[in-house]
Amino acid sequence: MRRFVVVGQRATASPDFLLVDLPGTSGRLDVLLRCVRAALLVSHGVRRDTVVYLVLLGGSRAPRTLRVEGEAVRFLRPDERHLAKTVQKALATPSGSEGFVPIRAGIALADGGIEAVLADLGPMTPYVLEEGATDVREVPFDAPAPVFFLGDHLGFDDVTRARLASVSATAVGVGPVSVHADDAVVIVCNELDRRDARDTQVT
Ligand SMILES: C[S@@+](CC[C@H](N)C(=O)[O-])C[C@H]1O[C@@H](n2cnc3c(N)ncnc32)[C@H](O)[C@@H]1O
Repeated sequence: MRRFVVVGQRATASPDFLLVDLPGTSGRLDVLLRCVRAALLVSHGVRRDTVVYLVLLGGSRAPRTLRVEGEAVRFLRPDERHLAKTVQKALATPSGSEGFVPIRAGIALADGGIEAVLADLGPMTPYVLEEGATDVREVPFDAPAPVFFLGDHLGFDDVTRARLASVSATAVGVGPVSVHADDAVVIVCNELDRRDARDTQVT
């Protein structure tokens, strides 16, 4: 099981953004949607072993968090507009109950940000994607239930950074260049794919 948590410092938690101007009206929700595509969608398929959390810290309804589960999600398409429409519909649903409330197959919504995510994750091995940290190729990833936390175009806010430190998240880098969050997700997925393929060959 692979899990990714992307924290959008300004990404809107309300559905009142324009599909025709997603970057300009949604607090850069587009950055987070590209991470959904990168983590969950492969050529002609969905990664069934992957879950993505989008922590939405912007707008009047914040904080809220969307959870997309590869195992159960249906009709997820790679184009950003389609993903944005799916998320917009989900955000139009009233939330307010405790924990994640199912919206449609594989998609659930919670009131709350990083705390709601940590409660949902349960026991895990947290990694925080940080520029300049130990290279992903040198990290063994042999502990159970890895969870990867990423920032948006602004990086991490201080509260999130402190919370990740409090759960002893290990910092991991994906190379010498600061890349877009979705590209960092792809690099992690590729690294894990290579290891899985090697393990399959050995057994
Ligand atoms: C565009 S970067 C954020 C840049 C932001 N200006 C900053 O200084 O944090 C978005 C996210 O992708 C991840 N990321 C980007 N490049 C990375 C790298 N080389 N190694 C590890 N994570 C990286 C980090 O989680 C980062 O918060």
